[in-house]
Amino acid sequence: MREELHRLREDAFNSLKEARSAEDVLAVRKKYLGRKGPIASLIKELGKYPPDERREAGAEINRVKREIEDEIEALLDELRLREREERLKKEKIDVTLPGRSIPFGRLHPVTRVLEEVEGIFTSMGFDIAEGPEIETDYYNFEALNIPKNHPARDMQDTFYVSSDVVLRTHTSPVQIRVMETQSPPLRVIAPGAVYRRDSDLTHTPMFHQVEGFMVDERVTFGDLKGVLSAFLQRLFGEGTPLRFRPSFFPFTEPSAEVDIRCVMCKGTGCRVCKETGWLEILGCGMIHPEVFRSVGYDCEKYTGFAFGLGIERIAMLKYGIDDIRLFFENDIRFLRQF
Ligand code: PHE
Repeated sequence: MREELHRLREDAFNSLKEARSAEDVLAVRKKYLGRKGPIASLIKELGKYPPDERREAGAEINRVKREIEDEIEALLDELRLREREERLKKEKIDVTLPGRSIPFGRLHPVTRVLEEVEGIFTSMGFDIAEGPEIETDYYNFEALNIPKNHPARDMQDTFYVSSDVVLRTHTSPVQIRVMETQSPPLRVIAPGAVYRRDSDLTHTPMFHQVEGFMVDERVTFGDLKGVLSAFLQRLFGEGTPLRFRPSFFPFTEPSAEVDIRCVMCKGTGCRVCKETGWLEILGCGMIHPEVFRSVGYDCEKYTGFAFGLGIERIAMLKYGIDDIRLFFENDIRFLRQF
């Protein structure tokens, strides 16, 4: 029996030496220590021995059994450790690899300028109002003191939906809509899309304006100059030279256009400013008494100023873009630059 036990031990240890994986080791365990294995049969046979021999033989078998078990446990530990190390090596993260970038959306340049303009005026206490893009003749023209035969109504300029309904040609009708429903003091800007039958390098059939107006007792042309100067200094940079030039709009009197010194050539003259050194940036004036009459305001008591500016034009100047149509082609390569 002792010889057989010794041989078993040798065999088991040799098999374990050849084991390459935890699976191999487990197979050896099953083969030698399993319920139907050789060690189990030896234990079963113990009954045949006389009692004093039986105890000794039993102890001997148990010792060998434990030796094999210990070896198996040690091997399993070692193999598990090695497997873990290999896995860790394979799974190592290379922190120097560049990350996968998330494609960011950008705000459209028109949206950016619109938000900037809104930000400046709201910081000066102006509210934001909106009006419909499909407008009646009354709001777009009549209430703004644009009589029936005025050239601005010409089919050349206006998209007519019907004889009485147009796509608004400017944001000025929002002046009327706000004044009809609210009383002074008013400080309001009205951004939005407007439509004109026009298309070339600097004109598109749809573009964006911001209307602005302020109405109260004793609002003067000085207030107009002060507010617009402050606004343009913030939009184009402190110290940007301005010029107020007399002009004409049916709904303001007196009227003016404001120029800024050319942002491209700084006033020396270039293609963008047509060699004048100046760029027209907005139209403005003191609200015409006829307009106040349309909305039932007492024009002896109240005065006000209004202005309107084109957002695309400002975006072209701020970003140095020479073709307005780029804004509406939605070419991602163009939009990504902002
Ligand atoms: N509505 C005018 C335009 O579209 C701009 C303007 C607005 C002028 C308000 C004066 C006052 O050209």
